[in-house]
Amino acid sequence: MKIQSVRCVYFSPTGTTKTIAESITQGISPEFVEMIDITKRLQRNSQPLLDKDDIVILATPVYYGRVPEEIIPYLTSLKAARTPVVLVAVYGNRAYEDALKELHDIAVDAKFIPVAGGAFVAEHSYSSKTYPIAPNRPDESDIQKAREFGAAIRKKLQNAESSEHLTALTIPGQSPYIEPVNLNINPAKKYSKQIK
Ligand SMILES: Cc1cc2nc3c(=O)[nH]c(=O)nc-3n(C[C@H](O)[C@H](O)[C@H](O)COP(=O)(O)O)c2cc1C
Repeated sequence: MKIQSVRCVYFSPTGTTKTIAESITQGISPEFVEMIDITKRLQRNSQPLLDKDDIVILATPVYYGRVPEEIIPYLTSLKAARTPVVLVAVYGNRAYEDALKELHDIAVDAKFIPVAGGAFVAEHSYSSKTYPIAPNRPDESDIQKAREFGAAIRKKLQNAESSEHLTALTIPGQSPYIEPVNLNINPAKKYSKQIK
């Protein structure tokens, strides 16, 4: 299969998913790259045209072990054409739980063909000087690993007649997916109930 174009769809409020996605793209090293940033709501108004000859990267941070709820409507509205897809979940060194599996299932429903998937550690969005969680990640070694992952994807696809001929991926995770817990104990919510 010829490696021509990569369209990389990413959601990245604090920038680490973007860095990983860019590094994977560099490793794939296609002739044409389109970076599709869906971080802001307004950026989710239009749909990319996806051809079966594109390689798409879907890259998302992990929120509560899942794909962020905010971008599910956008992701489920994508229309692929048996397009090869690389699934990427970036997490803050706690756990990625069912996020990669959920992303995989969304992609299959949208008529993508998953060809590779990876979970990458990055600094947690809630990391601080007092409570550091994976500070300054992705570092040089993480970026190198992401590039090598991209290069391995390039090799895999180049050696395949088409993405239809690849073995299906086995993605870790459970179904039904983990339900976020402890979200209803926000004191502000309790307070708003009291003043009703
Ligand atoms: C609301 C929220 C929930 C999160 N849940 C998880 C989680 O379940 N596991 C984990 O390891 N990191 C979790 N994180 C950390 C992010 O996955 C991590 O910081 C990621 O690198 C952020 O990506 P970005 O820099 O592209 O925004 C969470 C972050 C936020 C804001």
